[in-house]
Amino acid sequence: MDNISIALDGPAGAGKSTIAKIIAKRKNLTYIDTGAMYRAIALKILREGIDIDKEESIQKVLSASSIDLEGNDIFLDGQLVTEEIRTPKVNNFVSHVARIPLVRMKMVELQRSIAANKNVIMDGRDIGTYVIPNATYKFYLTASIEERAKRRFIELRDKGFDTTIEIVKEEIKNRDKIDIEREFAPLRKAEDAIEIDTTGKSIEDVVEEILNYMK
Ligand code: DC
Repeated sequence: MDNISIALDGPAGAGKSTIAKIIAKRKNLTYIDTGAMYRAIALKILREGIDIDKEESIQKVLSASSIDLEGNDIFLDGQLVTEEIRTPKVNNFVSHVARIPLVRMKMVELQRSIAANKNVIMDGRDIGTYVIPNATYKFYLTASIEERAKRRFIELRDKGFDTTIEIVKEEIKNRDKIDIEREFAPLRKAEDAIEIDTTGKSIEDVVEEILNYMK
């Protein structure tokens, strides 16, 4: 039987990773957080102070890095970085790294190899359009900018970061703009994806909606 693959795309804060983790558990699928992979390489670039405009430096850092997903954890060169990739510093830098074609090609190769011969749910920005264009199911999650900013603000505040909803809103807008406007595999709804607006819906509501489509 063919493997099942679910592509879950959408802008920052639409609820993708929360929903994906729950569906993975219920349906016994491997969860692949592709944003975490871009975040891990962005973290390395930040740590090493690499100039992202230098192709050679990018090439070097890509070939000298290992990124591994284990359950909901991510390891960069063998070190657990699950928490560190979600700091405001990485949040605001990652889109600049994710727009570099060399970076994307490497990450997509890795994503496809992790997904090969497995039943997967993969969340990101270009999964339904580029990474697995023939996915069994494709969903595109959205929510109002106010709601997305509120969710991210609560997440950051709970982790002890000092910020405001207004700041988070501006940061999300900037990130979305870079993700949408980049040339190579930008954030876009696949033509055959089912769009779900999660504004005002509970996590459980959205999970049920997706599971209903999969019946
Ligand atoms: O989903 P996230 O917030 O963890 O993603 C972090 C960044 O990585 C996001 O701003 C854009 C980029 N990204 C991407 O370009 N393609 C993906 N498939 C996943 C994430």
